Amino acid sequence: MGYDTMKELLWLNACVRHDSRTEKLTRRFLLSAKADFSIREVRVGELGLLPLDEASLRRRDLDIQAGRLDASAYAPARAFAEADELLISAPYWDASFPAALKIYLENICVNGVTFAYGEGGSLVKKCRADRLTYITTSGGFLPAVPSVKLYLQELCTLFSIGTLDFHAVPGLDVFPDQVDRMLETALSDMLRGEG
Ligand SMILES: Cc1cc2nc3c(=O)[nH]c(=O)nc-3n(C[C@H](O)[C@H](O)[C@H](O)COP(=O)(O)O)c2cc1C
Repeated sequence: MGYDTMKELLWLNACVRHDSRTEKLTRRFLLSAKADFSIREVRVGELGLLPLDEASLRRRDLDIQAGRLDASAYAPARAFAEADELLISAPYWDASFPAALKIYLENICVNGVTFAYGEGGSLVKKCRADRLTYITTSGGFLPAVPSVKLYLQELCTLFSIGTLDFHAVPGLDVFPDQVDRMLETALSDMLRGEG
């Protein structure tokens, strides 16, 4: 398949440390599992996005009402909506993920771009993707259903994205001398669809 006809996977990289294990695992997963996609990596912490405040919220409400959704402020939301597939990778921080990812999500949840409500309040699909993959690694152990997974599931419902592939690799700081083997095992499980 020619490069320009390949489907695009938007990789939202929220990893922070230069030797991030989450990022390393994600790169290997992408090479093996998503080789048929053209990968567009966006480091969410480098987009210069800000948390919403009263002024930006008011501006956004006015833009939505006026249909001014081609403004540059909504470029990240448009890119999210247009991607054929989505992947987010983030370290497990304080029972969720780094704040830069939350700021990114605040900025892309734009009514009319990444989701919309139809008559009677039913959700209208605005995102092209039908799959969102999430990859995280944690220092300790996670509950059976981490709250971050529930949160992402709720966002997928908002975006009408049918499949959330959630992969968490726990315990990396408990067994520091076994990290390479744990990542190897995790990658095999993910590629077999069990991770
Ligand atoms: C700011 C910060 C917060 C963290 N919070 C948690 C936590 O809540 N639970 C946990 O198990 N590990 C926590 N950790 C450990 C990381 O999840 C773990 O080291 C992870 O593998 C880091 O991923 P990275 O190598 O991709 O940076 C935290 C680490 C940092 C730096």
